[in-house]
Amino acid sequence: MKYTLSVNGKSMTADVSADTPLLWVLRDALGLTGTKYGCGVAACGACTVHLDGHAVRSCQVPVASVARQKVTTIEGLSRDGTHPLQRAWRELDVPQCGYCQAGQLMAAAALLAKTPQPSDAQIDEAMSGNLCRCATYLRIRAGIQRAAQLMATGAPKPSGVSQGSGGGR
Ligand code: FES
Ligand code: FES
Repeated sequence: MKYTLSVNGKSMTADVSADTPLLWVLRDALGLTGTKYGCGVAACGACTVHLDGHAVRSCQVPVASVARQKVTTIEGLSRDGTHPLQRAWRELDVPQCGYCQAGQLMAAAALLAKTPQPSDAQIDEAMSGNLCRCATYLRIRAGIQRAAQLMATGAPKPSGVSQGSGGGR
């Protein structure tokens, strides 16, 4: 069946079965491979995207349930890699292998949209479901704090399609 989705501000159509997880629609049908598969059972957060600005695990979202909600993936976090989180991530050299980082950034973007000046405890709570096998947790927390600082001091607003850096395969 054909599903038309709003992804990163564009209308995109995928011909898939109703129970296909959004993760595989994005990666296999639409070629948006920045969103990663980690576990497939809602246990790692690697597949995190936004639905209407809320962080969700795309491996657990059947495409039929997306309907008119706006999907934002790592490719849509900003048009040019200048979201404060992306700037902070580069400044602090946050990633190690990088595999989990698209999900980390999307979870962090949802957090900052709701809580622009989070405490360390709020960051730890919001990010607790996003696992990193390279254990970059302290740099992730510092990156979020730095991004919050950039936002508070008037860094240019993200130019992306939502509040919410691209990733390769
Ligand atoms: S792949 Fe979705 S939570 Fe791990
Ligand atoms: S940077 Fe390697 S899994 Fe997180």
